[in-house]
Amino acid sequence: MKSLFSGLLLALLAGHATAAADGPILIKFSHVVADDTPKGQGALLFKKLVEERLGEQVRVEVYPNSSLYGDGDELQALLNNEVQLLAPSLSKFSQYTPKLQVFDLPFLFDDLDAVNRFQKRAKGRQLLSSMEKSDITGLAYWHNGMKQLSATQPLQKPSAAAGLAFRIQSSPVLESQFQNLGAKAVKLPFADTLQALRSGTVQGTENSWSNLYSQQYAPVQPYMVESNHGVLDYMLVTNSTFWYSLSHSVRIELDAIIDEVTYTVNRAAEAQNREARERLAASGQVTLVSLSAQEREAWRQAMQPVWQQFEGEIGSDIIHAAKQVNRRSN
Ligand code: SIN
Repeated sequence: MKSLFSGLLLALLAGHATAAADGPILIKFSHVVADDTPKGQGALLFKKLVEERLGEQVRVEVYPNSSLYGDGDELQALLNNEVQLLAPSLSKFSQYTPKLQVFDLPFLFDDLDAVNRFQKRAKGRQLLSSMEKSDITGLAYWHNGMKQLSATQPLQKPSAAAGLAFRIQSSPVLESQFQNLGAKAVKLPFADTLQALRSGTVQGTENSWSNLYSQQYAPVQPYMVESNHGVLDYMLVTNSTFWYSLSHSVRIELDAIIDEVTYTVNRAAEAQNREARERLAASGQVTLVSLSAQEREAWRQAMQPVWQQFEGEIGSDIIHAAKQVNRRSN
């Protein structure tokens, strides 16, 4: 009710979200990745469908590759209504809610299907509204994929990570995950990562195959470990005040388009990551390191202490619900 009221007020005062005589509503969608990634493709499909179906009422501008806002300023830009849609990685919301850190816990989800099941169940869906107090509404979860480790050396065992510096997203859980290995964790915006790897400021990173490939890390990260130790997924978010200032009919149509885009993104993400992995393997620049069951277990043991450290902040009910979605319990 409060959001509805403040939305109407915003629309009246600022005229941001009404298709007035002076033109259509403009939705700016900013993101930090390349167009040929699951999120990049999703943003472009959203623009296409909105323009087909909402014709002259709504216009969408997509800004990829941190070309409008980057990790450091995009959420503030959303709150200022300078941009109306973002899809940050779930690891980038910790200043607005500690609960989404559940997605950063290493070795929690067996695979992307398990992540999908959690996001569809009640606890996962509730997390979409966990930032309403900050005027951020979650509209959908978009997949990228499972995370892999990359480095200047093979990293067959967790002890090999000790002493190396790893670029991480701005997540306390990820910071602790690398500290548990005796490694240094360096929080850097996505857009600055390649340069940091090139200059040697950091020697390793973790990301999905599609990001490792599309960001061209191969020449500086000759070893990529098929660890699948965590997940890189997104929440499509909007400014709540903006969203509830839209007319009911426009919002209903946008919701339907988002459902359709989400379905397409989430269906395609796994194949896009598989293809990126194959391209990296065929590049001749990267050695893909696979882990035996024993080696994977050693990584799990080394990283898993963070579960206990963050259980209080995240909530044991949420962690418990997430554990239930694996085929076998962990
Ligand atoms: C993204 O996929 O949006 C970027 C993730 C990262 O910062 O590593």
